[in-house]
Amino acid sequence: MRVLVLTGAGVSAESGIPTFRGKDGYWRNLDPTTLATPEAFARDSKLVWEWYRERRERIRTAQPNAAHEAVARLAQQTDEFLLVTQNVDDLHTRAGIPAQRMVRIHGDIFVTRCSRCEFSERGGVGSSEPHMRGRLRSIAPASDNDVNLPWCAKCHALMRPGVVWFGEQLSRNELERVENFIDAGACDVVIVAGTTATFGYIMDWAMRASRDGAKLIEVNPEETSLSRFATRLVRQPAAIALPRIVDALINRGAL
Ligand code: OAD
Repeated sequence: MRVLVLTGAGVSAESGIPTFRGKDGYWRNLDPTTLATPEAFARDSKLVWEWYRERRERIRTAQPNAAHEAVARLAQQTDEFLLVTQNVDDLHTRAGIPAQRMVRIHGDIFVTRCSRCEFSERGGVGSSEPHMRGRLRSIAPASDNDVNLPWCAKCHALMRPGVVWFGEQLSRNELERVENFIDAGACDVVIVAGTTATFGYIMDWAMRASRDGAKLIEVNPEETSLSRFATRLVRQPAAIALPRIVDALINRGAL
């Protein structure tokens, strides 16, 4: 079996990570889709870092849910498998998906990279890796409300979270990995779970991977722009639906 799984924020919702466009996604009355931008960072980098630091802390204490575990089980049981996740959390990884079977198309929230040079490292403000915390050079905050800003150890420019923001290019390497998988053959099953599929490339990959009559399964309590192309709609939370779908796929034919 050849399987492509595309996931978004909804898959981590039941682990307590707010989605971007849901009501609980707002932070201090700010819309996350306007915070996750180069413009917001240029305007108020402290505010953006504070938001990311809180998100890192929340992710660090969260646990993978039944949806992440089901996808990991599918990855282990399928010959040709790729997960493409838009999530910058590490819950798919912690559920046991090997790096070579996963593309994190919007980056990794625990990576801190220079906004000017190529320097990057996994760690920094609110890192999940205790030994990395505070390793980056930082300026002392003037007040309790300030967050330490990390500065590049190589070129002294401001460091930023290693994620893709709105309006930014996807990493060429990661893009190539997705394209290579899709070009190498049509899939038998494509699962799109917990995403509004607002980005054209998500729609494009789902459509191309299911080109030769694959099952295109959407798991989402709400309708999305992908819904009308799906061969099967599962209007349930991912942590309920994905374990059932994966069981059925592994036991063959029950779909
Ligand atoms: P969104 O916040 O746009 O959408 C979350 C989707 O999950 C919605 O369609 C919900 O209906 C659905 N959902 C909510 N709870 C769910 C559950 N328990 N089970 C299944 N589905 C559920 O998140 P994304 O589509 O992932 O990009 O957003 C895509 C990208 O836009 C993000 O990676 C981020 C964002 O802004 C960048 O930062 C570039």
